[in-house]
Amino acid sequence: MLLEQLSVQKIRNLADVKLEFGQLNVIYGDNGSGKTSLLEAIHYLALGRSFRTHLAGRVIHHDHDQLIIWGKASGHSIGIQRFRNGDVVIKIDGDKVTRLTTLLEYLPLQLITPESFTLLTGGPTMRRQFIDWGVFHTEQNFQPIWHKCKRLLKQRNSLLKRRANYREISYWDRELVQYAQQLTTLRNNYINSFNPLLQGIIERFLPAVTVTVSYSQGWDKKSDLSQLLEKNYPRDLALGYTSAGPHKADLRLRCNNMPVQDALSRGQLKLLVCALRIAQGIHLRTQVDKQTIYLVDDLSSELDANKRQVLIDQLVETQAQLFLSVIDVKQIASQTSKYQTRLFHVEQGVVTQDK
Ligand SMILES: Nc1ncnc2c1ncn2[C@@H]1O[C@H](COP(=O)(O)OP(=O)(O)OP(=O)(O)O)[C@@H](O)[C@H]1O
Ligand SMILES: [Mg+2]
Repeated sequence: MLLEQLSVQKIRNLADVKLEFGQLNVIYGDNGSGKTSLLEAIHYLALGRSFRTHLAGRVIHHDHDQLIIWGKASGHSIGIQRFRNGDVVIKIDGDKVTRLTTLLEYLPLQLITPESFTLLTGGPTMRRQFIDWGVFHTEQNFQPIWHKCKRLLKQRNSLLKRRANYREISYWDRELVQYAQQLTTLRNNYINSFNPLLQGIIERFLPAVTVTVSYSQGWDKKSDLSQLLEKNYPRDLALGYTSAGPHKADLRLRCNNMPVQDALSRGQLKLLVCALRIAQGIHLRTQVDKQTIYLVDDLSSELDANKRQVLIDQLVETQAQLFLSVIDVKQIASQTSKYQTRLFHVEQGVVTQDK
């Protein structure tokens, strides 16, 4: 997918604007000018939400009641209108869309920000979302299976809260185990097929570092999930939720026998996150011929000139559409000079394309 055009209205401090993008787009401007807000608008169009806040009201311009984002992506017209009261209208090619997952399929997007290292330093939720992004875009069966698992777990947890006896719970567990296994197989296959690609990119970004990647399925590998759910029943009853299962899956990354967050510097962690996200994009293109869009906010942060070059070259090689934000365009001028680039200057919310 290629986001050819974007029109934004009433997003943060941005003045209403319609822009035409190319393959490599650089957005530059002073602090507080609106660069991240522009990337946020693209993210909103692709995922129906911001990456900075869960509160839609924060993204809408202070003086207005609704935001409107419209984009043309590989010939499709995608529009999203969000009101301060939480209402949302999404339209694709003129038709109203009620399920968010329909929107998600149109613009596979990867985001890299200065805070992205939290993928490695934070809890497992983000890493699970990371795996599931890849499985969602490559496996048609993923969505219904994952949806089923989520619903069954929700039901199980509410039974636990009601202190239902195990016989009642076990009726649902049979189904849960079946879907949990299917989900685990999909995730496992995905990691196995994506990991060799990832290792190649890590070698390029961090030549002196060896990172091992392993998938933790959310319960002890040697245990049968059905027996484990039964064994854990007293504990789950006390907790009021299910303590083991596919909802606890994680991706473990280690280096020198330590979790990567204890072994690598901030810049190295950023590069590792970039490697993970780039590997996913390449994997998606090679597996199902889908193009990923990359939003890289404040590209220069934490990276020396050499690493900026390696990152930009690698991003360009993915053949994905790129949106890179920097404060001063000189920060990446020498690294992007060999590529055809569209430059967008942001000044107090006004975005203009350099001629
Ligand atoms: N809902 C809103 N309505 C109007 N203005 C807002 C709203 N939310 C944030 N702003 C303002 O928008 C401006 C742009 O913020 P943004 O984070 O996009 O800047 P930036 O160019 O990315 O800056 P930096 O280089 O510091 O990251 C800020 O000055 C902020 O105060
Ligand atoms: Mg910013």
